[in-house]
Amino acid sequence: MAESIAVIKGDGIGVEIVDEALKVLRVVCERFDIACECSEYMMGGCAYDNYGDPLPKESLQGALQAKAVLFGAIGGAKWENLPKDKRPESGLLRLRKELGVFANLRPAMVFDELVEASALKPEVITGVDILIVRELISGIYFGEPRGKEKNRAYNTMAYSVQEIERIAHKAFALALSRSKKLCSVDKANVLEVSELWREVVERVAKEYPQVALSHQYVDNASMQLIRDPRQFDVVLTGNLFGDILSDEASQITGSIGLLPSASVGESHAIYEPIHGSAPDIAGQGVANPIAAILSMAMMLEISLNHAKAANAVRKAVSSVLKAGARTQDIARFGCKKLCSTQEMGDLIAQAVARSVLSEEV
Ligand code: IPM
Ligand code: MG
Repeated sequence: MAESIAVIKGDGIGVEIVDEALKVLRVVCERFDIACECSEYMMGGCAYDNYGDPLPKESLQGALQAKAVLFGAIGGAKWENLPKDKRPESGLLRLRKELGVFANLRPAMVFDELVEASALKPEVITGVDILIVRELISGIYFGEPRGKEKNRAYNTMAYSVQEIERIAHKAFALALSRSKKLCSVDKANVLEVSELWREVVERVAKEYPQVALSHQYVDNASMQLIRDPRQFDVVLTGNLFGDILSDEASQITGSIGLLPSASVGESHAIYEPIHGSAPDIAGQGVANPIAAILSMAMMLEISLNHAKAANAVRKAVSSVLKAGARTQDIARFGCKKLCSTQEMGDLIAQAVARSVLSEEV
C-alpha cells in the first residue's frame, strides 16, 4: 500500500525547498521501490489568503489522515498584523498540537565538507553531532493564562509531570541509541517550572542507568554551545529554550538552511526544516533546500521505516557538498559551483540515483 504523505509547502521559500525535497523523494521512491502518495494542502499566510484561516479544516484533516506531513515554512510581513489566531504561526502551532507531536528532534551535525563555512573555528566544531530534543506542544507557547492588555502582557510557562515524563523518556531512549549522554537544559535557579522539570528528569533517569545525565541552566548552555559544542550529545529541553538553542546550534553547522527536524508524537509526525520562510529571499531560487531534503530523509527513516533510503539521501547530500556545490548561504568556503535552489536539488537527486545504482552493481 502506498504511504500517504501530506505535503504543506507554506509561504516564502517553503514552496521552493519542498519542491526540491519532493524531487529527491521521487528518485528515492523509484530506486528503493517505495510507493508514496503525496497530497498537497495549504497552511500559513497563503491559507489565510485563500480560506481566511491559517489552518483550514481540509488541511488539518489531510494531515491527521496522512502517515507523515512534509512541511516547508510559514509566515511573512504581509500577515504580521493580523489578529493572533489568523497569523500563519498560529496555524503551525495548532497543527503541532492537534497532531500531538510533542517531541521535536533537531539534529545539528557538522558536515566535514562545511567545517570552514561555520563562523566558529574548525578545531571547535569538527565532528559536532548534537541532537536537540525540544518539547513542542506545551510550555510557554501554550500555557494559560496568557493575554495582552493596554499596559501589561503575560504568558505562562507551565509543564505537568506527565508532559515532562513523556519528553524525557523520548530523549533518554534516543540517548541510548547514540552516545548515552544527555544534558537537560532548564532555568531551575529561577523558575519553579524548571525545578519540577529537573526533578522529573532525575526520576526518569533512574530507568536509564546507562545514560549519563547532566543539567545546565539555559544561559550557561547557550554559552557552552559556542564554547565547546562537542561536549553535547542529546540535549533535552522545553519549547522556548529549544526554539532558541536550535537556531544557535545551526550556526555551528554553518547555515540555518542545513538543519532538518522531525516532530513526532504517538501516531503522527511532521517533518520540517528548523528555518523560517525567509521572505527576503523567497522566489529568487537562492534558498538552501538541504534542510528540507534532510527533513524528508528523517521522514523516510522514522515514519516510513526506511533507514537505507534515508542514509542514501544523507550520503548524497555529503557527496554533493564534497564536490563543491554550494548555495549562496554556504558559499563562503570550498565553493566550486554556486547553485540555485533547483540545481542543488537536481544534484542531490542525481547523487541518490547514482549511489543506489552503484550499490546494486
Ligand atoms: C520553529 C519556528 C516556530 C517556533 C515558529 C514559526 C512558530 O521558529 O519551528 O523553530 O517557534 O516553533
Ligand atoms: Mg525557531
